[in-house]
Amino acid sequence: MMEEAATVSKGLEDVYIKTTKLTTIDGNKGILRYRGYDINDISEHGTFEEVIHLMVYGELPNKEQLKALRDSLKSHYALDKGIMEVISKLPKDGEPLGMLEVAFSMLAMKEKNYKWEPKADREKAIDIIAKAVTIIANIYRVKEGLPVKEPVIKEGYAETFMATCFDKPVSKEVISSMDKALILYTDHEVPASTTASLVVASTLSDMASSVVAGIAALKGPLHGGAAETAFKQFEDIGSVENVEQWFKHNVIENNAKLMGFGHRVYKTMDPRAKIFKRYAEMFAKDNPKVDKYFQIAKKLEELGVQKFGNKGIYPNTDFYSGIVYYAMGFPTYMPTPLFALSRTTGWLSHIMEYVEEQQRIIRPRAIYVGIQERKYVPIDQRH
Ligand code: ACO
Repeated sequence: MMEEAATVSKGLEDVYIKTTKLTTIDGNKGILRYRGYDINDISEHGTFEEVIHLMVYGELPNKEQLKALRDSLKSHYALDKGIMEVISKLPKDGEPLGMLEVAFSMLAMKEKNYKWEPKADREKAIDIIAKAVTIIANIYRVKEGLPVKEPVIKEGYAETFMATCFDKPVSKEVISSMDKALILYTDHEVPASTTASLVVASTLSDMASSVVAGIAALKGPLHGGAAETAFKQFEDIGSVENVEQWFKHNVIENNAKLMGFGHRVYKTMDPRAKIFKRYAEMFAKDNPKVDKYFQIAKKLEELGVQKFGNKGIYPNTDFYSGIVYYAMGFPTYMPTPLFALSRTTGWLSHIMEYVEEQQRIIRPRAIYVGIQERKYVPIDQRH
């Protein structure tokens, strides 16, 4: 029997499921910090490998530690032949997040009765973080009709990813922007995907299976899928002259949600959105196609903030990121896989923190509101 006083917190709003030393968000001030480092500071001065080290091992690396981490990543980028073969056989028109689930599930296939232990967990995390590069780059290649490719191992994580995706050289500016985007999406406390990973890890399942759960949750348009839908929104609008009419018809008259707007925690502009906006502006300067989308987005931001700002609804990280990925040469289906590439580090850091320090199976309750008790009726006596 349910306690009389029990209530449901819809969407688990304001429910705290763990303590963390990883990420802090001040939703009213628009502040995000990784282990105390402000997102503006770390994304401007750091590299993604430094952020991996910070999240996985607890501190920014010194030079030797950074070299050791890069060497370790290099030794783990390659996938087993069997996994490469399965990826090569995935359908070109497959939905990319579903394809990611298949590929990461193959990493999970090797795990049975995984023994959680801090040192081994970190080695496993680096292995999965490295393999994410080769999986996601090759899913991009399959979707583009290109043959699968062994990882093209470079010094940096972003550079290795770009060199594996593309067969032509990629500019330093684009590699650096990819590195920044990876930093911006690394972690965000316990959104839906991280919570999904935590639920799986809390059962003492393995790390790869927990990542698969994160990917599945990321797929939804209310979470990781929003960057793609936000960008499609700009494509749908088509030109800056159409923004007002589109907004009036869709948002005012038909109550459509603005994609890339709103957040459970931020009640002001997401600090990552401000940074992505600057990158989008930088790319827009030299590229009229990017500029077209940037102008549309800026106008839509203005109208959205006018209409929803008083409710605390502002652009989130996904509003401008799709434009940045488009400017880098990625097709419109790639923002969510790229989100997963980065967030794999966040998911793994959270599950290690949880299982190693706070483990308890996550098993909430539901309040039963159905018929209390009745007798089984044989099928020929039912209406
Ligand atoms: N456009 C218009 N109205 C919105 C939007 C939006 N994008 N977001 C929220 N609202 C309104 C709701 O209609 C609701 O209004 P009401 O109180 O009058 O009914 C109110 O704001 C509260 O909205 P909820 O959906 O209850 O807020 P919640 O915290 O549950 O949802 C979410 C947060 C899912 C992010 C929501 O803002 C949304 O759907 N945004 C669009 C999708 C999106 O951009 N997702 C990416 C989030 S960031 C990330 O995951 C990386």
